[in-house]
Amino acid sequence: MYNYIFYLLFIMQNVFGFNILIKNELKNIKNLLVNQQNNRYQNFDRSENYLLTAENMLSKYIDKKYCLGVNSGGMAITLSLIAIKKLYNLLDNSIVFSNSFTFNAVPSAIVNANFKPVFVETDKHLLIDLDDLELKIQKYKCKKNVLVLSYMRGRIPNMDKVLKLCNKYNIIMLEDAAHAYGCMWNKKK
Ligand SMILES: Cc1ncc(COP(=O)(O)O)c(C=O)c1O
Repeated sequence: MYNYIFYLLFIMQNVFGFNILIKNELKNIKNLLVNQQNNRYQNFDRSENYLLTAENMLSKYIDKKYCLGVNSGGMAITLSLIAIKKLYNLLDNSIVFSNSFTFNAVPSAIVNANFKPVFVETDKHLLIDLDDLELKIQKYKCKKNVLVLSYMRGRIPNMDKVLKLCNKYNIIMLEDAAHAYGCMWNKKK
């Protein structure tokens, strides 16, 4: 249902030239540039700094203590992978699994963090094939299993099964929610 609404808005915007989605955003971007608020160092007053406000709003929304705004989704994934690498003492060229139906920023981030991407098959719903994930985990026998899971088009796989696999194989899962803000599984964001 949401997919259809999204595609309808997308077509209206791109084919008929309606700016429904970005009118407000453009106003905010202009304010941000005119008021010189385009990075975290320009105004430390939380109430007036757009970035700090966004970080606060998002950490409240996803019910996490911290949230860090960076310049792009790809950089968020790269930095998180570098943190995982340091935390678990992983070597360069260690394997990181990712669903094969993803955005090119994901394998780029894996390579940027000096890991090697291994792609997991896609099922008929275009979701990650969890049987193939298990097969690949058994095949590669990594010191630490790391998975970057992109929720493409805001659609999520059976998270009970995903978490079961994470527990069984001690998988560190990095969620790429670029398409999935607001998505829930069993009322959990
Ligand atoms: C699923 C997914 N992950 C990550 C990214 C990366 O975001 P960025 O283009 O900001 O690097 C995108 C971008 O569209 C995306 O679609």
